[in-house]
This record gives sequence, structure tokens and C-alpha cells, in this order.
Amino acid sequence: MTETADHKDSYSPSAEFAAAANAGAELYEQASADRDAFWAEQASRLHWHQPWGQVLDWSDAPVAKWFADGKLNVAYNCVDRHVLDGHGDQVAIHWEGEPGDSRAVTYRELLAEVSRAANYFTELGLEAGDRVAIYMPMVPEAIVAMLACARLGLTHSVVFAGFSPTALRQRVDDASARLIITTDGQWRRGKAAPLKEAVDEALFANGDVPHSVEHVLVVRRTEIEVPWTEGRDLWWHETVTQASPEHEAQPFDAEHPLFILYTSGTTGKPKGILHTSGGYLTQVSYTHHNVFDHKAGQDVYWCTADIGWVTGHSYIVYGPLSNRATQVVYEGTPNFPDEHRHWQIVEKYGVSIYYTAPTLVRTFMKWGREIPAAHDLSSLRLLGSVGEPINPEAWRWYRDVIGAGTAPVVDTWWQTETGAIMISPLPGVTATKPGAAMAPLPGISALVVDEEGKPVQRGETEANGYLVLDQPWPSMLRGIWGDMERYRATYWERYAAQGWYFAGDGAKLDADGDLWVLGRVDDVMNVSGHRISTAEVESALVGHSGVAEAAVVGASDETTGQGIVAFVILTAEAKDTGAALVDELKAEVSREISPIARPREIHVVPELPKTRSGKIMRRLLRDVAEGRELGDTSTLVDPNVFEAIRATKA
Ligand code: WT7
Repeated sequence: MTETADHKDSYSPSAEFAAAANAGAELYEQASADRDAFWAEQASRLHWHQPWGQVLDWSDAPVAKWFADGKLNVAYNCVDRHVLDGHGDQVAIHWEGEPGDSRAVTYRELLAEVSRAANYFTELGLEAGDRVAIYMPMVPEAIVAMLACARLGLTHSVVFAGFSPTALRQRVDDASARLIITTDGQWRRGKAAPLKEAVDEALFANGDVPHSVEHVLVVRRTEIEVPWTEGRDLWWHETVTQASPEHEAQPFDAEHPLFILYTSGTTGKPKGILHTSGGYLTQVSYTHHNVFDHKAGQDVYWCTADIGWVTGHSYIVYGPLSNRATQVVYEGTPNFPDEHRHWQIVEKYGVSIYYTAPTLVRTFMKWGREIPAAHDLSSLRLLGSVGEPINPEAWRWYRDVIGAGTAPVVDTWWQTETGAIMISPLPGVTATKPGAAMAPLPGISALVVDEEGKPVQRGETEANGYLVLDQPWPSMLRGIWGDMERYRATYWERYAAQGWYFAGDGAKLDADGDLWVLGRVDDVMNVSGHRISTAEVESALVGHSGVAEAAVVGASDETTGQGIVAFVILTAEAKDTGAALVDELKAEVSREISPIARPREIHVVPELPKTRSGKIMRRLLRDVAEGRELGDTSTLVDPNVFEAIRATKA
């Protein structure tokens, strides 16, 4: 540990770690000497059925083409080539079910499963370019389904299994999915909760409004009873399992759509973020190899995310499998049957690389260090963090208590839109600082600028800096599904003159020039690393007959990063029944969106603070929610509204 200009501690990699690391400092030099050549070299780590003509074509900005004219098969890269290279017996997935059952899937078995699914999807008449919705808990078949789609050029849209039927239907309709793959139910803290039922609810919702879904394919997991529509519904074990395990992967264009993943923006309508094949796989593979220092055949890797989020796509499915990882996939929650679960799993499989979210680290801190201390965690040699800013205290605890004071911690900044890690230390190179994402990776370019686009100065800690990406990158989104105008407006309008991508995050550079990401600067909340829009929660609240108006803010929360705080005005007919009403409104949001969007607090208020143009001043509501002195209220129509609002909080 050494002292730096304005931060107390910084941690250099040990000489031993640095000597064996996949990535050395020369990567930065190679990338800055010739960016295109650098990315071409990274792409060469993959198997291409046909070589590309041009590394980057940015002539149609902001829609990039990477490795144009190149052809590859994403699933072949993640599965087949490892078997062909003689690693068929290596375990790809150590799957750990929540109730305690487990299953090891080798690369050879994975290939057979993916081939079966691909054969059956073809039998169903699905063709390259069709969309498939995947609404599943963390079971191996979910990964098989994603890879089978990739193998056939079907574009998957994974919908987090915690989302409501309404949210599922919205996503299925937006993408016009022909097939939904799901499970009968999912294990949640020892109980089997229905899931197929939610699919039926989604499809029968909206009355007679027709939907695009022809079949629902159901994996048996919990054996609970399911509603069944003859002809439409199919059991996985009666169809996929019976199909042939032989299938030859066909090549697809580098720019062939690989997946759509819906994420929250600043309006109530989720955005279908579109990712394509060659550039995406290149960057997830490159970052997984270098940021996690992953060594095939030696490491046991565990990313605790869910496949419903981009972290699951990039760092459970495509990154690790393209690098022939042996990884743990865990179905359940970290405290079932008790708070030892993660450390038992680390011990059982000898996990060496562990990647999780700051919220979980803070939760472990609350549970106490004696819990991890009861286990042999000596296999852990690298720790990663993602999804939200990690506070220095949690960072140090993570390194000291989980990483024995020696494991490098990589704080990785990226987004659904960026597809892969963008800003992060390189574990064998960077002297890390608790709480800082440090610097753009080799091949990536980012700036911290002010409102006008002027770079902020080092050490200007109070400056309002915005994070922008000033150069295209291989795994960048190629658009918003069905709404290219929104794509331009959301990401490219703010710094249109410069042609920069606006990330929506605030950032600063410290006196050493190292980068700190400070969190969202738009109306997007980050609760436990989950992205939720204020507008979506507001619209769920006003969907309740008792609510006339609602304003929602993210207030800082010790464990979850942010907590959702809502202020509602009731309709004339509604009665304020106190706690009963508040509970009912919270339940409404859970039902409409997901339990992850359930507000932490709801305050019934007589009025909301608005500007003269009628815009709700969320900044001031955040001040109230966090118990701070009010900021500038001069643009408010009626500054007195706060007295009334505060009175309801007391
Ligand atoms: C937003 C993206 C990245 C995959 C999971 C979330 C925040 C993400 C960090 C980090 C500070 C971070 C940002 C970003 N975020 N990683 N290391 N430090 N903030 O993906 O749902 O698309 O959310 O998460 O605010 O914009 P996402």
C-alpha cells in the first residue's frame, strides 16, 4: 500500500501476480499506437469462418460496423472449438441449484445440449433473424437456450425472471418474439414459485390483442403444476431432449443481431438495446481474459449476476465460454439456507475469480466477517465489482476479508449499452485505489467533460464532470430495437457537435488523473445494481386508482446504493388509510414491474414541487428524501410546498 496525491491508499499488484498476468502495460502502448490493428488482434482470438474486410466502418455513425464482411458463429466460438481442441471433458458449468442439487456440464455435454436445442428450434420453423424470449431462472437450460439461439442466428431477448407478466408482455410485443422459453417454476428460498403461470398471464393479458408468440417451451425445474395450452405449449424434456445431438453451426455476418436486452431509460418505456455478433464477442472475450486474468483450465470463475441482466450475458455466457472457462452458476439467493452459502460454494469448487456487485459486498459486511472467516477462501485470487459505485470502505473490506488482503480488486465500469467492460484496472498492471474504476482499458477511449464538452481538470473534485466515450468500441450497442431515433436522441444528441456518446454518468478525475465514476446524472435509479427508471415507477403508481400524481427519486441507501422514495398525491376519492394504503401502493409497483422496483418509502403529500414549465424538481425531492437542507428553490412555483411535504415525512 502506498500514499498517493489525494487518496490515502493505493494497491500495486504483487510482483508475482504481475509476472504471471495475462495483460501487461504494453497493451496500452499497442492500442494507442494503432487502434484498428489492436482490435484486429483481439478479434483473432476468435474463430472466424470468413475473415473480415475492414476492422471498423464508422461512416454510418452512430451505427458502427466492426469486422464487416467477416463471418463467424458465436456458439461455435463458445462451445464447439473447445471440444475440437480436445477439451471436451473440461467442465464448463458447475451448476449449483438452490435446494442443494448440483450438476456438472462438460463442454462436450454442452455441445450436445446446444445442438439438440438448435435442431428442435429449427424443427419449430424458427429462422435466422427471428426473436426468441427467454424468461428463466438460473438453470443450465437458460444458457443452452441462449447459445442455441446464437448458433442459429436467432436473436434472443432474455427477460429477468423476476419481472412481472406486464413487463414480460411489453418486451415480447416490442420484439415480436415467436417463441418464449421458460420453466414451470423457480426456487426462491426453499419455495417453488410459479413462472410458467406468469407467461400465461402475460399472453392472456390485453384481452384479445393478438401477440406474436407461437409456442411456449417449458423446462421442468420445480415440478409444480402449470396451466397448459395444447398445441402452443411444449415440454423441453419431450422435445429438445429427444432431438439429435449433432448439429453443424453455420457462419453469420459479424453484424448479425445476437441479442436484444431491455433496460430502463428516462421514460416509462424500456429500451431494447441491440447487440450484434463479431465486435461484441471480441470485446467480451478480450475483457474477460485481461480484466479477470482468466486462465483456461486452471481458474474456477464465478460471476454472481443473473442472465436477465447484461452482466449475465457478457460475463456468464459469452465472455467466459469463449475463453473456455470452468465456471460456477448458482441458482439461488446468497442467504439460503443461510448466510454461508456463497463461501461454501467458493470452498466446494475452489473458486479463484469472483465477480459481484457492491450491494452484495455491503450486505456481507452487515452479516459480519465471521461468516467468510469460517471458510477456506484461499483459492480466491481476484475479485471484481460491477453495477454501481463501490464505496472505499466496502472495497477495502472486500480485499481484506474476502481477498485475504492480497487479491487485486477490479472495479469495472460499463453498461448494458457498452456490452462489455470499458473502464477498469488491469489487475497485473494498475495500482488500484478503493472506489475508483481508474482508467479506460487499452483500445477504449473515454473523457470527463463539462456541459460544453470541455475536459475537466484533474483534481477538480467538485466539478460537474460527465463521462463520455469519444471513440466507437467493438461491443457498442447498434441501436434501440425499433426506435433508431430514440437511439440518436438518448446517446448522441447531447454532444452531437463532437460526435461523442453520452453515458449518463457523472465522473471526476483525481489529482493523479485517475477516473472515478460517481453515478447517474439522469432520471435513472440504481438499486442494488439494478437499473430502474423513475418514470416507470411513477407510471406504475399512477396506474393505481387512488393516485393522481407521483414523483419518484433514488435516495442514497447504505446497503442498496439507492433506495426508491416516492411522493404521491391522492385522488379526491381516495382515502389516506395510512400504512395500509402505502403497502397497497408498494404491492402495486411490485406487481406491475418487479419486486426489485418496490419503493422503500412512499409519502402521501398535498403537492409536488414543480418548475413554472411543470417539470417535477426531483433534485429537491432527493434533498428531502435524504434529509438535507434544500438546494436552490428559486425556480419553484411555490417554495412553500416543501413545508407541507416535510411535515408528511416527520
Ligand atoms: C449503470 C449501467 C455494467 C453491468 C451492470 C449494470 C452504473 C455500472 C459501475 C461502476 C460506478 C457503475 C452506472 C452505469 N455502474 N458499473 N463500476 N462504478 N457505476 O448495467 O444496468 O446497464 O447499468 O450502472 O451508472 O451507467 P446497467
